[in-house]
Amino acid sequence: MARSTLPQRLLQTVLLCLCATYTSALTLDPTSADSIRQVSSQVAHGLMKYYTGNNTGDVPGNLPDPYYWWEAGAMFGEMIEYWYYTGDTTYNANVKQAMLHQVGENNDYMPANQTKSLGNDDQVFWAFAAMTAAEVGFEDPPEGSPSWLALAQAVFNEQTDRWDTQTCGGGLRWQIFSFNVGYNYKNSVSNGGLFQLAARLGRYTGNQTYVDWANKVWDWYEDSALWDAKQFTILDGAGTTDNCSEGSKEQWSYTYGVFLSAFSYMYNHTEDEAWLTRIDGMLNTTATNFFPASMGPNIMVETTCEPLGNCNTDQRSFKAHLSQWMAITAQLVPKYHDRIFDLLAPSAKGAAGQCDGGTDSVTCGRRWNSTVWDGTYGVGEQMSALGVIQTNMMNVISLKPPYTSDSGGTSKSDPNAGTGTSGTSSSNGQAIHLTPITLGDRAGAGAITAAVVLFLMGGTAWLLIA
Ligand SMILES: *[C@@H]1O[C@H](CO)[C@@H](O)[C@H](O)[C@H]1NC(C)=O
Ligand SMILES: *[C@@H]1O[C@H](CO)[C@@H](O)[C@H](O)[C@H]1NC(C)=O
Ligand SMILES: *[C@@H]1O[C@H](CO)[C@@H](O)[C@H](O)[C@H]1NC(C)=O
Ligand SMILES: *[C@@H]1O[C@H](CO)[C@@H](O)[C@H](O)[C@H]1NC(C)=O
Ligand SMILES: *[C@@H]1O[C@H](CO)[C@@H](O)[C@H](O)[C@H]1NC(C)=O
Ligand SMILES: *[C@@H]1O[C@H](CO)[C@@H](O)[C@H](O)[C@H]1NC(C)=O
Ligand SMILES: *[C@@H]1O[C@H](CO)[C@@H](O)[C@H](O)[C@H]1NC(C)=O
Repeated sequence: MARSTLPQRLLQTVLLCLCATYTSALTLDPTSADSIRQVSSQVAHGLMKYYTGNNTGDVPGNLPDPYYWWEAGAMFGEMIEYWYYTGDTTYNANVKQAMLHQVGENNDYMPANQTKSLGNDDQVFWAFAAMTAAEVGFEDPPEGSPSWLALAQAVFNEQTDRWDTQTCGGGLRWQIFSFNVGYNYKNSVSNGGLFQLAARLGRYTGNQTYVDWANKVWDWYEDSALWDAKQFTILDGAGTTDNCSEGSKEQWSYTYGVFLSAFSYMYNHTEDEAWLTRIDGMLNTTATNFFPASMGPNIMVETTCEPLGNCNTDQRSFKAHLSQWMAITAQLVPKYHDRIFDLLAPSAKGAAGQCDGGTDSVTCGRRWNSTVWDGTYGVGEQMSALGVIQTNMMNVISLKPPYTSDSGGTSKSDPNAGTGTSGTSSSNGQAIHLTPITLGDRAGAGAITAAVVLFLMGGTAWLLIA
């Protein structure tokens, strides 16, 4: 399906404004399951309109330009949650097809033709989607395909293999391939991603090796410059060229979410009280930083870019992940339930108020503190709105908690999945045949700005992009 061009969109906006009396914002009652289902269904419909992968001749699992491969993984993860929250099976077949088509040659979410935009964070977002499928009991893949759990285990095995003690005393680099810009950078979302994945695998399988790895990643991160432990402030990342001595200052909602929920899986599984203090501190800064009183009461804001209107394609989707991961925290650590939904319910109402845009009237804007569509649209805006709206189901009905292999989970374990195929270095044959990426190509899940990349790049990286 072709989206309308920008001029067309602008015209539509003008027409919409002229016809403002004939449109009204979607009204969400966040205390009503029917209302949440109905509004979620409209917003999900708007989201899946962007997806062309099931059209004849297109590739299942890919989103059209300008959306990077990771965002498709994040979107399918959200659509699995959509089914979990609402029970609506409309998109399940498409979602399953997409999830299985993108597993790559080694069943590890590293398809060779995505290598140039594939960092550890990109890969882990697909692993999160597979893990969610296992945890919520999404229909299992057919015989002969890897299980949801095995796909997540493959990513875990490869990423732990990439754990790098040569610089910064440990940690995962942002990029997997040394020819990709960002290889000399260790970022919070990649390390938080492995931490969360390990915690979830530990909880699901009961295998202590995963829990040990989660602790190992956390112990390294806790002492690193990638965050400010006293203030519970998560920074974007730090460069390896100066041994991670200084963190870059940008802050993003999804990095808070990735750690917050990882703490919650750990607490739920281990009941170690130390995680509670971290959850408490992280909720404090999450509330202060991303629900600023200046922009409306309890309304989620991507504060680093949204007020300035310069969020990039990736960043526009981050509120979806913070929403989902706050909700998971409420589910796994019930003592924080009310505190979390005091924030998520008003944000959901606000988001719904932005979802009557476009000619289809299911297009969502970005600024949730106004019921007049702000004229923005895209997969990120749509995902963020769906994320915050659908998670409110958890506040009104009783949902089955994420499965473990002892409590209903049917996904088969393959602890050796992905081993021997880590694709870490240039010794990986497929990698060296690829053209090095340029700065313009590079995006992925990383939120880092081009300026920071330039600052961090070593001499060889300059040669590569020259
Ligand atoms: C693709 O999926 C969407 C959403 O489920 C559906 O509306 C559309 O008809 C599908 N297209 C094809 C060609 O199957
Ligand atoms: C990339 O590889 C997949 C298989 O992993 C294939 O189906 C697809 O056609 C290839 N091309 C694109 C543009 O995704
Ligand atoms: C790099 O940082 C790690 C962790 O802080 C430290 O153990 C190591 O000694 C540092 N290496 C150098 C060369 O400074
Ligand atoms: C979170 O904020 C509350 C209220 O200001 C405070 O009492 C508590 O100590 C904070 N938690 C942490 C871990 O700093
Ligand atoms: C809504 O948020 C924007 C920033 O995203 C801000 O500029 C504006 O003043 C806010 N409006 C209200 C009514 O709070
Ligand atoms: C773990 O999560 C489940 C599901 O919500 C909840 O019932 C249980 O109380 C949680 N365990 C702990 C220790 O909080
Ligand atoms: C636990 O996980 C580790 C790491 O993947 C694996 O080597 C081991 O075989 C697993 N144990 C069981 C009982 O599955």
